[in-house]
Amino acid sequence: MLAGKRIVLGVTGGIAAYKAVEVCRRLVDAGAHVVPVMTAGAEHFVGRTTLSALASEPVQTSLWNEASPIPHTRLGQTADLIVVAPATARLLAAYAAGLSTDLLTNTLLATRAPVVVCPAMHTEMWEHPAVQANIATLRSRGVHVVEPESGRLAGGDIGHGRLAAPEVIVAAVEQVLSQGPWAGLHVVVSAGGTREPIDAVRVIANRSSGKQGYAIAAEAAARGARVTLVSTVDLPVPPGTEVQAVETAAQMEAVLTELAPTADVVVMAAAVADFRPVAAAEGKIKKHDGVPQIVLEPTPDILAGLGATKPQGQVLVGFAAETSDLLANAQSKLERKRLDLIVANDVAAPGVGFQHDTNAVTLLRADGVAHHVPLTDKRSIARAVLDTVSEIRGEAHTPAT
Ligand code: PMT
Repeated sequence: MLAGKRIVLGVTGGIAAYKAVEVCRRLVDAGAHVVPVMTAGAEHFVGRTTLSALASEPVQTSLWNEASPIPHTRLGQTADLIVVAPATARLLAAYAAGLSTDLLTNTLLATRAPVVVCPAMHTEMWEHPAVQANIATLRSRGVHVVEPESGRLAGGDIGHGRLAAPEVIVAAVEQVLSQGPWAGLHVVVSAGGTREPIDAVRVIANRSSGKQGYAIAAEAAARGARVTLVSTVDLPVPPGTEVQAVETAAQMEAVLTELAPTADVVVMAAAVADFRPVAAAEGKIKKHDGVPQIVLEPTPDILAGLGATKPQGQVLVGFAAETSDLLANAQSKLERKRLDLIVANDVAAPGVGFQHDTNAVTLLRADGVAHHVPLTDKRSIARAVLDTVSEIRGEAHTPAT
């Protein structure tokens, strides 16, 4: 469950901070990639070195001193989950009020990942109406709260407010991560451009980097789906995703034809070559043999094949990479390939489509509903695409990831 998950572990200034060390160890043992973020108060109770040694990741403490110029957004955006243990009354108040006072509160406000807070404080503080109101506010916003336990508190008092045991906190993290809105769904995504061999060293290729397909896979995994990426490129594998490497249109077709019949959602973001050499030459064609005459044939239209055999209930999504008549061409592909949704991108426009980190698309649904997403990063495009898939599936509102 936690393998490969990127978890930000927020530690605030309470005596229970020493238990965060054990939480960190257990998360790491379970395969998570843990990024510790400590407040100034936490450093009075536990040393940075302890947490960074366990996490194999430097502890983050400041908005200003890190290598990244914007650590507050980077940490929040890349996290699969944020857990704050212990969470003091001050942290809960700042978070409930939307105050960004330090790196941890900034990170909490700049994330769409699920958040688990584990309060720990004296009984009087825990029972104070202000603290309880803040807890209620956070709960109403979807924040998960691991209730404190009763037992011995700092100073020898006995009462309610003791930080939950590390194993309880880790179990809560696992439970939240297994509860994505798409838990139980299988999503298949193709990514990258196919390469069709001319001879032993040359190929017909295209400019697809795979970034858009990988962003869709990452987003689907973050929603709890089991994701299979059918990919021609070698990018970092999004957590929770299995990759099937292919190179040619024929190989991609073979893998997709096997996976698609049982998939709940198929997204064809790959740029498949439309033509390939009828036969690849054995060895390398020599220059001194003259300019080769390469005879081409059409590749199989993989997406049209998937549309023709689409099982009941599956949502089939295609892309349309166009340089003119964007909407008319996309609409024609939507109908011809029997898709539920087509994502049209004008790849001649600046910052759009191949290789960029950004994209701008129009989502055309088979039922005629259209939605334009202006230029933004590819993960945001992925969110818009999967939100539309959720609508087509008739799901209740899908919380953003
Ligand atoms: O990979 P990036 O650098 O991030 O760039 C992203 C992208 C531009 C590749 C992506 O946004 C995109 O537009 N992908 C589809 C590219 C494409 O091949 O478009 P098309 O209009 O030629 O094809 C229409 C659809 O049919 C596509 O879903 C394509 O995958 C599919 N197709 C095409 C030909 C073929 N033989 N078989 C197919 O399945």
